Amino acid sequence: MQISFHLNGEAVVLDGVSPDDTTLDWLREVRGLTGTKEGCNEGDCGACTVLITDDAGTRPLNACILLLPQLHGKSIRTIEGINGPEGQPHPVQQAMVDLHGSQCGFCTPGFVVAMAAAHLSQTTDYNTALAGNLCRCTGYAPIVRAAEAAAVQPVPTWMKTAPSQATDTVPALPESSDALAALLIDAPETTLVAGATDVGLWVTKSLKDIAPAAFLHRCTDLQQIAVGDDTIHIGAGVTVEDLRHAIAPYHASFAEMIRRYGSVQVRSAATIGGNIANGSPIGDGPPALIALEARLHLRRGDDRRDIALEDFFVDYGKQDLRASEFVEAVSFPRQPDRLRCYKLSKRFDQDISAVCGCFNITVENGTVAAARIAFGGMAGVPKRATDVEAALTDAPWTMETVTTALPAFARDFAPLSDMRASAGYRLQTAQNLLLRYFHEDEGIATSVLEVRV
Ligand SMILES: Cc1cc2nc3c(=O)[nH]c(=O)nc-3n(C[C@H](O)[C@H](O)[C@H](O)COP(=O)(O)OP(=O)(O)OC[C@H]3O[C@@H](n4cnc5c(N)ncnc54)[C@H](O)[C@@H]3O)c2cc1C
Ligand code: FES
Ligand code: FES
Repeated sequence: MQISFHLNGEAVVLDGVSPDDTTLDWLREVRGLTGTKEGCNEGDCGACTVLITDDAGTRPLNACILLLPQLHGKSIRTIEGINGPEGQPHPVQQAMVDLHGSQCGFCTPGFVVAMAAAHLSQTTDYNTALAGNLCRCTGYAPIVRAAEAAAVQPVPTWMKTAPSQATDTVPALPESSDALAALLIDAPETTLVAGATDVGLWVTKSLKDIAPAAFLHRCTDLQQIAVGDDTIHIGAGVTVEDLRHAIAPYHASFAEMIRRYGSVQVRSAATIGGNIANGSPIGDGPPALIALEARLHLRRGDDRRDIALEDFFVDYGKQDLRASEFVEAVSFPRQPDRLRCYKLSKRFDQDISAVCGCFNITVENGTVAAARIAFGGMAGVPKRATDVEAALTDAPWTMETVTTALPAFARDFAPLSDMRASAGYRLQTAQNLLLRYFHEDEGIATSVLEVRV
């Protein structure tokens, strides 16, 4: 396919692009831009961070799992484009020099690009902004000090990138969900690529050939979030990072959990549609959405249907998705915020959940009027704790009821032991999370972000 984009301000047109060409390989091996490093090649370390600009703004992404067709109609800035046209250092580069933040040549370029992204968006939560950048010598403190020092400097004019505008239409890059629906009817075997945070790994780690593929990032009608009086409707193409910001006023705990979903580089690529469609039993989006009583909107050609989100996950690796069908959106009712989401993982940042428990319990006059509880990591699919829900519903909202409901977890779930957690740990922590929800609801502080002896 032919694609066009801007690279460090220069227009580029490429012919013969294959769906599984990665941006990182192209930058390093074809363009000789070797400042962008290859570390893990799976989105985990940030050594390959680049800046991508489109009509929605500028965000940092991992080039290793950014497929070249995803650049069509966008602008990319690499570490070679962070300093000014006369070679002037960017404020974050100067601060890295002044404050001894540059420790090795391998991680530093990725850090600088991620810092430049934070500088541009005036983000000052550097623990979150740099969570996706691995420093293998653990010297984060001078890096964070450099980011803080640079924050007072204005954004250099050369950083204000205009997005490139693609004028030509490429069949594998449909411009609307209508075009996507037609493409899938004609070619049901097409691999859909949304953010490529899963599909990119099929390419880099499983060496899979994903052709024929269709890329969803130009279907802007799939990228809308509509907050109505009764419903919140989220298009399948909404990124997890955009969802984090949009959902915060309504369900703050969901937004806070999403902060620990991958890193800003991963969240800025990953879509909620991909997070659902991949059917992962440990995806963080589905348990929260199931607890909110979400419905999934599916489309095949002009036929649309919607199902309860939990019914989409039929079995491990099996979803209720027909040939030529795709996820168009997910929606859930507006409701008072009773949702709490708890993610347990070995690391605080940038780690997949061992257990993810989401609780939405409505209490009226001291009695549980409704309970929706859903878990990731406890079964082969994201799953509701229906026996626990039943044990709570219509009972007084008391410690005694909660304690009586705890054994029901073992009826709802028979979790597996794997490298993330043992079955016993999973069952015990699932029970503990209900206790935590109850205690928080009673106003008892349970957050343990910092442990001191
Ligand atoms: C470093 C790293 C960290 C991660 N951390 C987390 C984490 O903390 N929590 C978590 O939940 N996940 C995590 N993930 C997994 C990943 O981000 C998600 O599963 C992601 O949401 C997938 O979305 P995507 O848009 O990138 O999908 P893609 O990779 O583009 O696609 C995934 C699958 O969904 C299909 N698909 C995509 N969109 C649609 C659609 N609209 N209709 C039908 N099928 C579709 C694709 O064909 C493919 O089969 C992580 C991944 C990486 C690489
Ligand atoms: S090389 Fe590690 S995130 Fe890309
Ligand atoms: S900066 Fe590279 S190991 Fe720390």
